[in-house]
Amino acid sequence: MSKGNKRDHVPTVEDIKDSVTPKVPRTRSSKCIGEESKRKTTDKVLLSEEINSKLDTITYESLSATPRRRPRGEKTNPRGILTVSNKCEPTVAEDENKQKNVDDVDIICNVAKKLSIKPRKRALKSTTESESSIAQNALSTPKSHRSSLRHSALTPSIKMRTEALAKPVTPLQEVRSRLHVSAVPKSLPCREQEFNDIYTFLEGKLTDNIGGCIYISGVPGTGKTATVNEVMKCLKRSAEKGKLDQFNFIEINGMKLSEPRQAYVQILKQLTGKVLTWEQACNALEKRFGSKTEKSITLLLVDELDLLCTKRQDVIYNILDWPTKLSARLVVITIANTMDLPERVLMGRITSRLGLTRVTFQPYNHKQLQEIVLARLKDTDVFKSEAIQLIARKVSAVSGDARRALDICRRAAEITETRDGSTITMQDVNEALSEMIANPKVQAITHCSKFEQIFLQAVCAEVTRTGVEEVYFLNVYKQFESLCSFDGYEVPNVTQTLDICARLGDYRLLICEYAGNDIHQRILLNVSKDDIHYALQNISVD
Ligand SMILES: Nc1ncnc2c1ncn2[C@@H]1O[C@H](COP(=O)(O)OP(=O)(O)OP(=O)(O)O)[C@@H](O)[C@H]1O
Ligand SMILES: [Mg+2]
Repeated sequence: MSKGNKRDHVPTVEDIKDSVTPKVPRTRSSKCIGEESKRKTTDKVLLSEEINSKLDTITYESLSATPRRRPRGEKTNPRGILTVSNKCEPTVAEDENKQKNVDDVDIICNVAKKLSIKPRKRALKSTTESESSIAQNALSTPKSHRSSLRHSALTPSIKMRTEALAKPVTPLQEVRSRLHVSAVPKSLPCREQEFNDIYTFLEGKLTDNIGGCIYISGVPGTGKTATVNEVMKCLKRSAEKGKLDQFNFIEINGMKLSEPRQAYVQILKQLTGKVLTWEQACNALEKRFGSKTEKSITLLLVDELDLLCTKRQDVIYNILDWPTKLSARLVVITIANTMDLPERVLMGRITSRLGLTRVTFQPYNHKQLQEIVLARLKDTDVFKSEAIQLIARKVSAVSGDARRALDICRRAAEITETRDGSTITMQDVNEALSEMIANPKVQAITHCSKFEQIFLQAVCAEVTRTGVEEVYFLNVYKQFESLCSFDGYEVPNVTQTLDICARLGDYRLLICEYAGNDIHQRILLNVSKDDIHYALQNISVD
């Protein structure tokens, strides 16, 4: 037989019988033979009878094996029954089998009843294949899935800490806890000017009892959040002492919201305690800030404002627009990483009317970073001063991020602890720095081609420009063009650049949109900007 014929061959019942029927001697009942003569399809009936008789035996076997009442703790094994029901599938003779299958379903339902599992009613009506699967579902699907979801039975949870964290004992442990970014310092050196600007602005608004808006921007780790928190603490203290009128203080953080419009929900919840959908919350807030009812002044802190960007930009627009209403009596303090966000969002329409007050936090220089670290290490002598200086210089050369500097100091202290030392030396610091520089992502960037490296820089530039993590290929290409021209390279065309982008996606240095490798795709940086700086600025640890 040719291949084609083989493929075209439709299996007959005999074929099935040969392959499916177990090789056991047939035993026919007289009843069987009677029915057989009526139908003239002897073999088919024989096959079905045989299967059904086997099925009956197995079914009853498994039934007899199923205890009427399960002793506690013993596990049920509905699989035995399910295996039997699955064996119904190859039956061929229609009428008898339908009846037989209905009987099987009855049996399964009875067993299920005994096991106190309700099979679905539909299972009784259906025939052939579906019965087994329905019965299977009825037996295996958890009965109250919704209720378990409702009662958070399926939500993973973390065990509560039963014991308080051990307090630092050794000087090195003490230093590590002081250098932790979560440790709140008593003062914020090098941010006195910014502190004064923000404090004076807010104090003025509270004294005059009018609304307004302040826009604070700066690159990560420059102390924006820390400074604003410090200002709020001082204002609250003044209000408690009666030097200032009482005010409402609410805060939201773009990073903590699942979706930008949840900002409305959070603001309303903190103001009134009500939880509504975002549309309702937005309307309620519009109404509240638009009505002239007597209310105390509200300070609203919106941290990570850049993350509230949407296609329509409605969230940022509303947040910056509410304070312009006289009746709102609302002062909004916004913190973002990009300087020109209001202009881009509001397109100059409102910014002039807003009279936005701006405070920009510049990156720290090496002297400031040194001062910040030293302020935290007061009264300790475990760090050699040249070690701190080295860290401050390395970090200020790249980003001026205080968080980075503190993290490297902590890592150096850990290395000293591991080698049972008592003073953090230059060697420990070098090790901590090279760990950071030698991390696999930095290594991967170092080994990229020149154009791949420039493309990564272009993505960084676009992220900095927009303040949004997700950027469009076409915009990145514009940055790429300028960077290439600036470095004196011939600019690759769009198709070549798409290939570069795809390769960086393959290296997992970028996350490219799955849908397609075209000019409208969105791109996400999968490495920190600092790592790119470290890799491309050829910073050595010596
Ligand atoms: N002047 C300072 N003195 C002491 N610690 C500082 C200072 N500036 C920043 N820090 C510390 O650096 C860490 C980061 O600061 P912060 O969270 O305020 O940065 P940020 O500008 O808000 O960054 P991001 O844009 O990432 O939110 C904090 O632990 C903070 O205590
Ligand atoms: Mg912050």
